[in-house]
Amino acid sequence: MKFDKPAGKNAIDQLKVVGKPIDRIDGPLKTTGRATYAYEHQIAETKPAYGYIVGAGIAKGRIEAIHQTAAKSLPGVIGVITASNAGPLKTGRFYADRLLAGPDVDHYHQAIAIVVAESFEQARAGAALLRVDYVKSKGSFDLKKAGASATILNPGRPSTAATAEVSSFEDGFKSAPFKLDEIYTTPDQSHAMMEPHATIAKWDGEKLTCWCSIQQINWGVRDLANILGIDPKNIRLISAFIGGGFGGKGTVLSDIVAASLAARLTGRTVKITLQRTLMFNNTIHRPATIQRLRIGADADGTITSIGHESLSGNIPRGFAEYTTTSTRTLYAGKNRMTQLKLALLNLPEGAAMRAPGEASGMMALEIAMDEMAAKLKMDPVEFRIKNDTQVHPENPKRTFSTRLLVECLQTGAKKFKWESRSKQPRGKEEGDWLLGMGVASAVRGAPIMKCAARVRLSNKGIVTVETDMTDIGTGSYTIIAQTAAEMMGIEINKVVVKLGDSSLPESPGSAGQWGAASSTSGVYAACVKLREKVEQMFGFEPGTAEFSDGKVSVKNKKYSLSKAADSGELISEDEMTYGELSREFAQDTFGAHFVEVAVNKYSCEIRVRRMLAVCHAGRILNPKTARSQVIGAMTMGVGAALMEELVVDTNVGFFVNHDLAGYEVPVHADIPHQDVILLEDLDPTMSPMKAKGIGELGLVGVAAAIANAVYNATGVRIREYPISLHKILESSYNLEENN
Ligand code: MOS
Repeated sequence: MKFDKPAGKNAIDQLKVVGKPIDRIDGPLKTTGRATYAYEHQIAETKPAYGYIVGAGIAKGRIEAIHQTAAKSLPGVIGVITASNAGPLKTGRFYADRLLAGPDVDHYHQAIAIVVAESFEQARAGAALLRVDYVKSKGSFDLKKAGASATILNPGRPSTAATAEVSSFEDGFKSAPFKLDEIYTTPDQSHAMMEPHATIAKWDGEKLTCWCSIQQINWGVRDLANILGIDPKNIRLISAFIGGGFGGKGTVLSDIVAASLAARLTGRTVKITLQRTLMFNNTIHRPATIQRLRIGADADGTITSIGHESLSGNIPRGFAEYTTTSTRTLYAGKNRMTQLKLALLNLPEGAAMRAPGEASGMMALEIAMDEMAAKLKMDPVEFRIKNDTQVHPENPKRTFSTRLLVECLQTGAKKFKWESRSKQPRGKEEGDWLLGMGVASAVRGAPIMKCAARVRLSNKGIVTVETDMTDIGTGSYTIIAQTAAEMMGIEINKVVVKLGDSSLPESPGSAGQWGAASSTSGVYAACVKLREKVEQMFGFEPGTAEFSDGKVSVKNKKYSLSKAADSGELISEDEMTYGELSREFAQDTFGAHFVEVAVNKYSCEIRVRRMLAVCHAGRILNPKTARSQVIGAMTMGVGAALMEELVVDTNVGFFVNHDLAGYEVPVHADIPHQDVILLEDLDPTMSPMKAKGIGELGLVGVAAAIANAVYNATGVRIREYPISLHKILESSYNLEENN
């Protein structure tokens, strides 16, 4: 089915099942421990061997030798795999890392060897006995220094979303009566998902099966085939449950390559999980940025110029962090300029992490907006509303399909009691605590991708949905079941959903907040076909029957749905593809975040007291799972604002705090009451579902809202994330000295 005209009324609009806050259908499996994650599968008729990955002990250089005799003579050790016996390996298409170094090392903890043994403990003991001779070379580990020789991305090509200028930014900025020009920095961050990367690999002749933890099965097959140099048809990936990904499990990482190689070379089924201490430097992370924001405005608060330059670094072939994306869409302003610079670093590879680009870009832009509002003596909510635009700021011919940014800000301000905020910083105290409120806008693209699905109707009236879509804790199982139930006119407990297996019809997986909208639209297309088959069985004209309460009817003729499958299961498969609507309209999601913090007067400890997100993201397929996405994202935003930082050792070239003791993320005690308002909204330009994604929107802007609240509480402006208490402490001493 091709979607190329805005959707009219359809079966989804009945909203008997879709749009309801239904508990997740995979919940009982998860809470009772029966959902099988990658490392837990019992593979019939095989006794698996265990692989243990050894990470490089240097950041850049060459491996001279890996001494293996001691390891190989250990009881239980089956083999050692290194680049010299692994066979040729290429890179995948998404990540730059070769995933098994040798002889060259590209970054610290890059996989250099896999020890395979009968037990996990034997493999680990063997790994400890490997002795590696390295020749180190000088590397580039300091983003600020590397920035001097950074390259500007795609200059002069506005359509690439990298470097562009509209009108004359420099002139416009120079002549603006009110100006802001500041630098903001964001640190390297880690996904720190709960479930470590893990794979069980098994070969049957030329056929490779991997039970793994991958967000995008289709990319996984493509990249694994490329790396191993085998036909993608010979690969089957199974990833039915994923214990968190946040972009860190987009496609193939070292566990799956290592397990596949180890299984091939030993002839055994091999299981590998990355030990937690390897994950931070071995896999990918959100790269650090240094961003310069310039805003020029008239005295009435109209933005006349907006400029955003951003530097990030990566290993060779790695990509830049697209921090400027939101700046290009969010606010009006005649003179505009965005520029991305990419520096060469020999740190671990930077890549996608939840709302890649927007999350770190908005950490900067939305503090800059707060600072500008203060310069103009305007309320920060009013200043944002004043500069809203209903057409794309770079191209007035492109209108937003729907854009309720102003409504999000107004609804949030009212609900949060924004009017009680002190207009002056450091204007509110409560005992030893300084109180402050902050706001930030949110924007995130709403991409939608081709997705296929198959639906089967049994003579018991059970509808089974099959697609290789994944559920990374987001609720895919549930919203897909709701979609099929709505389309076929049955209750949700009559739907079985099978996901996360590359032998099923291809989906775009879970990424870029496109999963919910894309996968349910694919299921919609398959169900339209199944409905036609059912109608045919009953002798109805296609598209004329009503499907409801388990019955199919035209006028006074009514049959049980299950009867259509009396002489055998009915099977339909289709995919939803897309025409030009996403070119015609700017399709985005919007929101507003409100935060109240308390900062201790003496210790400068920051406690978040209240949080509110107002989100506008098309039809909400399930308010319960959508809200969970948003509160999870808000929690991640608290981490980004106050705690999360991979600390770079610029001498050795690695992230020092590579475990969950040193890399701090929020715990329950850090998170206050979180309120989420989902603004009623349909976007018929997206798909027949009229839905958009929300999983990344919930994160964008949160950290800046916290930073702005800290400023409102203390009068101290911190422009370097995370806002740890020592930064406020130091600045407040300076403040007092200056006074
Ligand atoms: Mo995402 S960071 O595109 O999973």
